[in-house]
This record gives sequence, C-alpha cells and structure tokens, in this order.
Amino acid sequence: MPRQTTTFVCSQCGGETIRWAGQCPHCRAWNTLQEFTVKAQSRAEKAAAGRPLEQARPLPIREIPTEDAPRTALAWGELNRVLGGGVVPGSLVLVGGEPGVGKSTLLMHVAAQFAARGGTVLYCSGEESARQVRMRAERLDALAAGLLVLAENDLDAICSAISELRPALAIVDSIQTVYDAGLEAAAGSVTQVREGAARLMRIAKETAIPIFLVGHVTKEGAIAGPRVLEHIVDCVLYLEGERRQDFRILRASKNRFGSTEEIGIFSMADAGLREVPDASAALLAGSSLDAVGTVVVATLEGTRPLLVELQTLVTGDSIQMPRRSANGFDLNRLHMLIAVLENRARIKLSMREVYVNVAAGMRVAEPAADLGLALSLAGNARNEALTSRTVVVGELGLVGEVRRVGQLERRLAEAARHGFTRAIVPAANDLHQRELDVVGVATLKEALEAAFGLRVPSVLNSD
Ligand code: TYD
Ligand code: MG
Repeated sequence: MPRQTTTFVCSQCGGETIRWAGQCPHCRAWNTLQEFTVKAQSRAEKAAAGRPLEQARPLPIREIPTEDAPRTALAWGELNRVLGGGVVPGSLVLVGGEPGVGKSTLLMHVAAQFAARGGTVLYCSGEESARQVRMRAERLDALAAGLLVLAENDLDAICSAISELRPALAIVDSIQTVYDAGLEAAAGSVTQVREGAARLMRIAKETAIPIFLVGHVTKEGAIAGPRVLEHIVDCVLYLEGERRQDFRILRASKNRFGSTEEIGIFSMADAGLREVPDASAALLAGSSLDAVGTVVVATLEGTRPLLVELQTLVTGDSIQMPRRSANGFDLNRLHMLIAVLENRARIKLSMREVYVNVAAGMRVAEPAADLGLALSLAGNARNEALTSRTVVVGELGLVGEVRRVGQLERRLAEAARHGFTRAIVPAANDLHQRELDVVGVATLKEALEAAFGLRVPSVLNSD
C-alpha cells in the first residue's frame, strides 16, 4: 500500500505546516491552510527513477568492501593534493572564496584538465554569459573540445542538462545565482542555496558525476554563503589570497575523502593560475633575508614543509597605548610573545609599536613559528639582523622555554635544500641532522645567544 504524508499549505503565502490550524503560522492569515496529500514513492517507482533497488541491510563490518573509489587525477599535483588524491566520482565539492579571488578561473582550469582526458565537462554559469566564459577560457588556454558551457540559472534546466548529458564533470558557478523556481524564496537566500545544494548532491550520488560548486564568501561572512552548505557537501575548499598579490592558497576545511591539513599553492598571472610546486623557493624569491626584523621559519602545512619569511617592525618609544598589528599571524599569539620577551629576556617592547607581516600574503598558524617571530622582534629591538642563511623553528612557552616541534627532520631538509646553512631549533628535539649546522636551544635566552651572541641577564631559571 502506498504510504502517504499530509501537509497543509497556505494559499496566501505558500508556507507549509504539518498540522492544520485556523491561522497560518507563517503569515498569520486566517483560514488559508489547505490540505495536500503527498504519495510516498513506491519501490517500483524508485526503481523506475533509477535508484538502487536493493534494500539497505546491516552488514558485518569485516565484510564491507574497502577498495578506494577510483579517483580522477588532474594535471596539477597541487589540486590533487588538496582533494586527497584526485576527484572522487559522485562527490559534491564546494569551492568558496571572496569575490574576485579566482574561483571561476580555478574551476575553468579544472574543467580544461578534466576535458583534456577525453571526457565531457559541463560548465554551468549563472554569473556570466557564455561569451564571457569563452573569453576567460581563451585567456587560460582552456578551449578544450569536450567543454560545454550552459549560461543558465534555473536549477531545473541545470539538473536536466546534467542528467541528459551525463558529463564526466559538472561545474555550477555559483550556488548563489541558481534558483529553484518551485521555491518561494529569492535566489541566494538560505532556502534556495541549501535546497539547490541538496538537489545537486542527489544528482551527484545517483549518477556518480562529480559536481563542483562555487560559493561566494564576503568579508562580513555572508549568511547564505558556503557556511550553510558545509554540512551538505562532501568537500569544502577555500581559495584564499590577497587580490593584489599573486599567491593563492587552496585549503580544505572539510574533506570526506582526504585530509584537511593539506594546502595547494598557486599563483595568478595574466594567463590565469599556475600551480607552484616548489612553494618555499617562490615564497623566498625576492626577499631581503639580511634585513633587520626578517626571519625565515620552517613551517609544516599538512605533509609539506614550507619556508616562510616573517617580518617585524618595532617603532616608537614610551607610547601609552602602542599599536600591535599582525598580517598572517595570530594577534593573541603576538601579544603573548611580546610579554614573554619582556618578562623572560628583558627586551622592552611594552611601550613600542609592533607590526608583523608574513611575506607573500601567507598565513602562519603553527606554534613552531613562535621562536622565529620572537627572534625577529628581539633583533628589531637591538637593530641587529639575524645571521643570514639561518632558519628558526620552535614553540615558545610562557616561562621562556623552547618546546619541541613535530617532524623537525623534514623541516630542516627543506631548509638545507634551499641553501640554509644554520638552524636554531628546540634542544628537546632529536638533533641528528647532518646537512646543517644545528644549534639546539632549551630557552629563549639560549636562542638569543645563538642568534645574536646576546648575553641576557639571567632571568630564566636562575632568578
Ligand atoms: P575570477 O576567477 O573571476 O574570481 P571569482 O570567480 O572568485 O570571483 O577572477 C577574477 C580575478 O582574477 C580578476 O581580478 C582578474 C584576475 N585574473 C587574472 O589576473 N588573470 C587571469 O587570467 C584571469 C582569468 C583573471
Ligand atoms: Mg566567478
């Protein structure tokens, strides 16, 4: 017997409710609710609609097949790395980012790389005309034969195009511009965005076609943006970067098929994006490593060691409310490091202005960068540069102790590969490293001595 569900729909506002009432709970109109009966789909109907018929049944956990879904690897290793090894069939991937950061550009590269493998790719654009999409593709050298463009923002049309064409990959740019005409809500509203994503998710799962979705995030954090979609989709990737700078970082914030630690690094040029496989070299290019206040730290992004240049500037004197500003570095962490320098090494910073900048628009979140930043600030206060070709790694604790960091070997190998000859590292780590002159330090005081030959009055441990 077909199951039925009953709902009540308001003839005035279209609002739905599961119980009859004299007054519509949405628009408060009286006597407008009408009863609707929705027949649940029978098994035969589901089968006709192409859904799998077999009934879900419990399986012994040891008998569940484990083979990995066959992934499609793209030409760029940086993309595959963030995706967890390539594109998974039937996955719904959200690419978020601020307007103008390069989402459409990135996805056009993805489309071209997919099409180059011989498959059909459907690029649905609700933002730009087909001509505009073609013009961008030309600029990117992405006029692949199997690439089809659909300038459309009606979700029904997009869904039927996907179902009929059965492309190897579909892209919807953007979720904020497509709408389901069957819903009362406006395009870009939470309802539209969520329903739209849920519908595309169903198509992706039913057809095993991977679908990439673009979602805009604004600086204020748009309400109907990627945030409301995060729990629906399989992967959320954010494209970050300053519009005026070349570097773009693709970061996974959710990935059902891989790690969320990995990042992909790209640079934006006239002919679109390029992957940057040797990020350390690119990040250090053109920097003046001998300048006062400049320090190179060896950080880890996922499995990848990355050499990043930190710059600090300390100015002014006897300022009652000095400014502290940090680009790419956590401000709270900076306040803590200033307090540690002041209290544990008597480096006076409390009435001076402090500015921190991570070069090339990078962001450093790892505590392993603490010691580097502290040494950079200390050098500033003394107007002395760190010996060039020195890399610094270490987390700094509140009593001025230098704490061990993970995977020191890999960080130092990266430094050696890029011509660094000396490293100041936590003594608590295993220091079996032959390629560099490695100085192990247990305290901030020792680190200052190693970096500047500085004799700090013994405030540490002995006071
Ligand atoms: P776009 O991909 O349109 O951004 P989004 O889809 O995230 O809004 O990229 C827009 C910016 O990228 C624009 O400021 C110009 C720049 N750009 C280049 O520098 N080179 C290029 O080849 C392309 C296509 C864009
Ligand atoms: Mg765009």
